[in-house]
Amino acid sequence: MKENTCVGVIGLGQMGRGMANSLRRAGFEVHGLDASQAAREACAKDGISLADSLAGLLSRAGIVVLSLPNSDIVRSLIEGPQGLADLARPGTLLIDTTTADPAVMRAVMPVLQRAGVALIDAPVSGGPRGAAAGELTMFIGGSQADLARARDVLSALGSKRFHIGDCGAGYIAKLVNNLLVAAHLLTASEAFRIAEAAGVKTGQLLDAINAGSGRSGVTLYNYPSRILNDAFDSGFTMQLMRKDVRLAQGLMQSVELDLPVCTQVAGIWQDSVASLADQEDFNRIVKFDTNRRG
Ligand SMILES: NC(=O)c1ccc[n+]([C@@H]2O[C@H](COP(=O)([O-])OP(=O)(O)OC[C@H]3O[C@@H](n4cnc5c(N)ncnc54)[C@H](O)[C@@H]3O)[C@@H](O)[C@H]2O)c1
Repeated sequence: MKENTCVGVIGLGQMGRGMANSLRRAGFEVHGLDASQAAREACAKDGISLADSLAGLLSRAGIVVLSLPNSDIVRSLIEGPQGLADLARPGTLLIDTTTADPAVMRAVMPVLQRAGVALIDAPVSGGPRGAAAGELTMFIGGSQADLARARDVLSALGSKRFHIGDCGAGYIAKLVNNLLVAAHLLTASEAFRIAEAAGVKTGQLLDAINAGSGRSGVTLYNYPSRILNDAFDSGFTMQLMRKDVRLAQGLMQSVELDLPVCTQVAGIWQDSVASLADQEDFNRIVKFDTNRRG
């Protein structure tokens, strides 16, 4: 076990379960908490200890990792009655890996400060596989001192860690990253539709694109391993990506920018709600008819 460090993980879904396992493998004593019985059972099978309550988890863990669906849930966990701000011991360090709304989290930060709880925002990229392997990319915001305290935990979770700036900068970096993925999926699918209509199959084109300057993460990874083989098994849902694109658009508006490409991308993703269900793989957007929009 690592220097008596006990780490709590709240949210044991697609990402949190893998993170809990990576932390345990790195030698931490891990205690998990989740609202869903199915998630708790899956983690118990992995051998992860489950806390019986938030109070129980916070009485043991000095560092707490959050992997929750959205920032409203994070906020109510922190500010709600018998929430984390009431129950955490001063000196507790929170690492929030949730892809969150920076505006909501800005409102929460003073509450944590008053409770003596430090916050690092560290949203991630790399999916459930990256979480399970401890090989996530992390977009990190926080003070140097808090990062030094969290170093071993962060290195158990992520193999590529980028300290972007002060608290909140990680949330912004993650939204910008996901806006790019959302846009690249749309531009790649339209580009390939043009090529197919002109008589060139996507499968024949992809290697050349990936050796050329038109490549992106979407053409390098999503197309070969999730889309062309019809797998659509990334573990990242339409619901989560629609949330991220909405948040990126909200971020654009909050800084008083009105940018046409971002607005168009956000509009197409939101329109897809009528034909692509929340639980579908987000790569399915390439099947969405961007002409019909609905
Ligand atoms: N899935 C991915 O590929 C991926 C990749 C990068 C980032 N993310 C982000 O990571 C976060 C988690 O994503 P996920 O795919 O693991 O989601 P998920 O829905 O699989 O897991 C979330 C878990 O949180 C639990 N939960 C909800 N409210 C709770 C509460 N109040 N207390 C305790 N547990 C609660 C749910 O029961 C669920 O098990 C999201 O913010 C997402 O945007 C996901």
